Amino acid sequence: MSTTVILLAAGQGTRMRSALPKVLHPVNGRPMVDFVVAAVAALDPERLVAVVGHQGERVADHLATSAPGAVVVEQVPQRGTGDAVAHGLTAVEGERGCVVVVSGDCPLVRGAELARLVAHHERCGAAVSLFTAEVAEPGGLGRIVRDGSGRFARIVEAKDASEAELAIREINTGLYCFDLAFLRAALPKLSSDNAQGELYLTDVVEMAVAEGRPVEGLAYPVAAEVMGVNSRMDLAAAAAHARARVNQALMASGVSLIDPAATYVEAGVTVGQDTVLHPGVCLHGATRIGAGCEIGPCSVYIDAELGDGVVDRGHSHLEGCVVAEAAQLGPFARLRPGAQVGREARVGNFVEIKRSTIGEGSKVSHLSYIGDTVMGAGVNVGAGTITCNYDGANKHQTVIGDDVFIGSDTQLVAPVEVGAGALIGAGTTVTGDVPPGALTTSRAPQEDREGAGARYLARVKEEKAKRSRE
Ligand code: UD1
Ligand code: CA
Repeated sequence: MSTTVILLAAGQGTRMRSALPKVLHPVNGRPMVDFVVAAVAALDPERLVAVVGHQGERVADHLATSAPGAVVVEQVPQRGTGDAVAHGLTAVEGERGCVVVVSGDCPLVRGAELARLVAHHERCGAAVSLFTAEVAEPGGLGRIVRDGSGRFARIVEAKDASEAELAIREINTGLYCFDLAFLRAALPKLSSDNAQGELYLTDVVEMAVAEGRPVEGLAYPVAAEVMGVNSRMDLAAAAAHARARVNQALMASGVSLIDPAATYVEAGVTVGQDTVLHPGVCLHGATRIGAGCEIGPCSVYIDAELGDGVVDRGHSHLEGCVVAEAAQLGPFARLRPGAQVGREARVGNFVEIKRSTIGEGSKVSHLSYIGDTVMGAGVNVGAGTITCNYDGANKHQTVIGDDVFIGSDTQLVAPVEVGAGALIGAGTTVTGDVPPGALTTSRAPQEDREGAGARYLARVKEEKAKRSRE
């Protein structure tokens, strides 16, 4: 039978108190609505209709990339969920088949469960089938009211409910499957005579009951997955759930998480077997980590690629970079876009690397800035070495040959090239190219004036003592 999905995303999401439309709020790094789009894809629907309204253009622009096949319908003004579905139906032809209605604020719903709802609906020939859930704190959700023999009677919204109805713990998840012909006939009959003055989709259930048409309630197996996101609290809870899913899959595939509750990995990230992630690690975007790596506490990676056996001692910040196998990073390494760290190379504490290649086995261990540099293999860069790559207008390149040894506190004023095997003395300002194998220094000769230091220190100490006596 043909299946249409109507995705509701027109509401303002008032309770979020946000300038960003609710359905675009990220859950573990991915806009909420994209989760729902992915879940409904499991139904392989004939069409997906997205109803947008509040900041509709912004939501529609987003859906154009994340759900390119979707038909977008505008609902202005937003007169309730029943009105939203009626708008959605304007994009649906024919009278046969079923319509699955989902909300863009229900990011954790599983596609397989939606498929189960549709299958059940078709088997029973129901007018309406919906997922319900038993929850401890039903809060503002719609309550399922059943008759004396336990059959569906209606759904009552929290704002319209009596004390007795508010005590009901079976709630409407907002995930439905409707018979298309029934839905099309029922929607025009909705009334806004309720506490919110809205056209409630939920009132359609009572109509089906009144017509003696079958209404099927299915219990959704994990209530936490269908609670919907209405507030920032709900958003945090949904994000924790989404992260737990990713983390469980990682652990099942052989990755160790020292503390899964404190490990933040987005869904698009891959991590190899026997890699260990320490607490506070945040892995974003298209980050790919090899096997047998150790990622220390609190490191943040964005679109970083690591080979096997890399050790990061933690607190590092990596973005848009490639690190080859068995390299060592951090603590406090900073790799910016275009950084490429070679096999067994080392980038130590408080070292920043931007758009540069660090050759195999080269070491930049302490307090350096390396930018726009091509560095060969086996290079040793002393503490505090800086590439002066920027002249105020343009960036210039530094080239460092294989096996160069650079003394501490060296400045390499680009453009400059240091030939292979050269030795740069500590504190040198390199302004011209260095021939291979050269020993280069640029220091003023050392001068020692005997006793002058001690005399100076004694004098200032005496002056200080005098001041404190006055
Ligand atoms: C709705 C249900 C409630 C259910 C809950 C589950 C109704 C009347 N109530 O309540 O029974 O327990 O979901 O989460 O349906 N929307 C539009 N246009 C509108 C109004 C809403 O597109 O005019 C969209 C919203 O963007 C949202 C969805 O519909 O994605 C649900 O609306 P929301 O206001 O969040 O409904 P709830 O109060 O949560
Ligand atoms: Ca909601």
